[in-house]
Amino acid sequence: MVSDSRIQRIAVIPGDGIGQEVAEVGVKVLEAIAQRFALSFEFEWLPLGASHYLETGETLSDEMFTHLRDRCDAIYFGAMGDPRVPDMKHAKDILLGLRFKLDLFVNLRPIKLMHPEMTPLKRKGTKELDFVIFRENTEGLYVGMGGNFKKGTIDEIAINEMVNTRRGVERIIRAAFEWAVNNGKTRVCMSDKANVLSFAHGLWQRVFKEVSAEYPTIEARHLYADVLAMEMVRAPEDFDVIVTSNMFGDILSDLGAELVGGLGLAASANLNPGKVSLFEPVHGSAPDIAGQNKANPLAMVLTGALMLNALGHGEAASYLETKVEELLALGAVSADMRKSLGQDPQDALGTQEVGEKLIQLIKG
Ligand code: NAD
Ligand code: IPM
Ligand code: MN
Repeated sequence: MVSDSRIQRIAVIPGDGIGQEVAEVGVKVLEAIAQRFALSFEFEWLPLGASHYLETGETLSDEMFTHLRDRCDAIYFGAMGDPRVPDMKHAKDILLGLRFKLDLFVNLRPIKLMHPEMTPLKRKGTKELDFVIFRENTEGLYVGMGGNFKKGTIDEIAINEMVNTRRGVERIIRAAFEWAVNNGKTRVCMSDKANVLSFAHGLWQRVFKEVSAEYPTIEARHLYADVLAMEMVRAPEDFDVIVTSNMFGDILSDLGAELVGGLGLAASANLNPGKVSLFEPVHGSAPDIAGQNKANPLAMVLTGALMLNALGHGEAASYLETKVEELLALGAVSADMRKSLGQDPQDALGTQEVGEKLIQLIKG
């Protein structure tokens, strides 16, 4: 439960790989914001991740889960994924575990161009690239139901079930419409593959029709997921809110990220209003650049802005976003951003230096 006291307790789970590096910057930035806006945060660093799992065998204990659920106001999460844990057991238990057990059914992933030259799309600018993805976050292909039969033999059968409940589909679609109404947006596009998945996504179609009828001022559109991938590239200006199932939302959000500068800038919030929410960048642990001070911390920073917003600090969140835009305009960025800008990555700043520069701007 979110507490009423003025001090807000934020659990920090840096996780694996670059998660550690970007979380350190993210927290320093939030401390600078807290100072400027007279906010009180208490950061509690938690060691959950691959190393902790390999050392102790523990992923997410019941005590830890209860602590996060009952004693924290938000969870600020870096990334998970480690080559030493090839089956991702720890990430399934911790990241997916928290999404499921906290019932964080909305995975909100904004796609917003913050620098006009950072899109790979010709003739598209900040006006054309500004929408959000509402990814269903507790069902679909992610529930982990299934199994192998005759594993390792020529006759092997491998099954992963896709779960869609009436309740689950309705609440994410409704959340997308509500967000549109509350944020002055006029269009919601639902995306599925009902042409193939006639039972599962037939349900999405029926529920979308019913719920959209309750929002006559919002234009309701449907696109199959393959066509949506194409339309996001061809005409991104046609979208305000996209609502879709868990796996499609995962894939489309990486595509969307690339349209606005790459994973190094992509933020996300796992939400269920009234419950403790989890905030994480869209990117993973990036083992290819981990430990080299090369990771772009801005996805984590912008994830911090989503968290500030959810914690009731809308003004501080907008201020932080503006400062990130200023930083991008100055070109004080990491190698991935310089590549997005078509500039020489040689002169790029490191993870920590990007953070320091941003904090200077925040302090003003
Ligand atoms: P990834 O997102 O970690 O990396 C993809 C590419 O983007 C890499 O080239 C990487 O260097 C680059 N990249 C990602 N974030 C960056 C950043 N902040 N700055 C600069 N470059 C960045 O995806 P992957 O390589 O497929 O996955 C690595 C591991 O992370 C896997 O174990 C995967 O399952 C896991 N993963 C975790 C999360 C999460 O914790 N939320 C999300 C995605 C992937
Ligand atoms: C994401 C990631 C996760 C997902 C993985 C690491 C389980 O790709 O947050 O986008 O698929 O949801
Ligand atoms: Mn993903």
